[in-house]
Amino acid sequence: MGKKLVNKITIVGCGPGSKKHLTGLALQRIKNADSLIGSKRLLDLFADTDTDKYTVNRNYKLLIMRIISLSKRKKVVVLVSGDPGFFSYSKLIIDKVGIENCEIIPGISSVQLAFASIGKTWNDACFVSLHGRKDEFPMLVKKVKEYKKVAVLTDDSNNLKLISKGLLSEGIRGRTVYVCENLSLKMERIRKFKLSSLQRVQVRGLNVIIILEENSSSS
Ligand SMILES: C[S@@+](CC[C@H](N)C(=O)[O-])C[C@H]1O[C@@H](n2cnc3c(N)ncnc32)[C@H](O)[C@@H]1O
Repeated sequence: MGKKLVNKITIVGCGPGSKKHLTGLALQRIKNADSLIGSKRLLDLFADTDTDKYTVNRNYKLLIMRIISLSKRKKVVVLVSGDPGFFSYSKLIIDKVGIENCEIIPGISSVQLAFASIGKTWNDACFVSLHGRKDEFPMLVKKVKEYKKVAVLTDDSNNLKLISKGLLSEGIRGRTVYVCENLSLKMERIRKFKLSSLQRVQVRGLNVIIILEENSSSS
């Protein structure tokens, strides 16, 4: 058990990005915060509140020290995208300070909204994140070979082009690919392709890729 902090650190899952996808409890915690910490994209959702705001950068060690130090005097709310339990830096905070010093507020994950948008279940899916994790590509290949339904988080360089080229070069064929872009946001776009016809497809912004085995009877 870690050292008890004066104020618990609240980690709020902000959903895929639009304010209307925030839960009531998330909004309540954000309203009662003294300090909000998050990416510029998430902090901009609350531009109309005069709560102190701190933008995160990629130096997570420094970020966690700042959160701990602020929590001595203030009610700190850390904003994370989607759900805190799904590929998020909330794990680093919990590992550092202990769950007894944290409150976790779930949010709607981008993958939940992606599956809802294409009308498919996700209880039978498996997940891979290539977001900042190029090394996970072999895991993606393994999962696509083994499972009929795989959802992938991407980033600017570990993107659709890389995925389609890589899967085809591994001899994978006969898959349907849904490209779910900017979910809940202004430029939202959901498109369906065959794996073999993806090479010229352009993608902009945040996206989740869902790879299904064709003729799969799964819903
Ligand atoms: C660091 S991960 C965080 C995932 C988050 N915890 C969740 O539950 O959705 C960021 C990745 O999630 C996906 N993502 C987040 N928001 C999205 C959105 N609005 N539309 C499409 N994909 C999104 C993208 O693949 C993005 O690169």
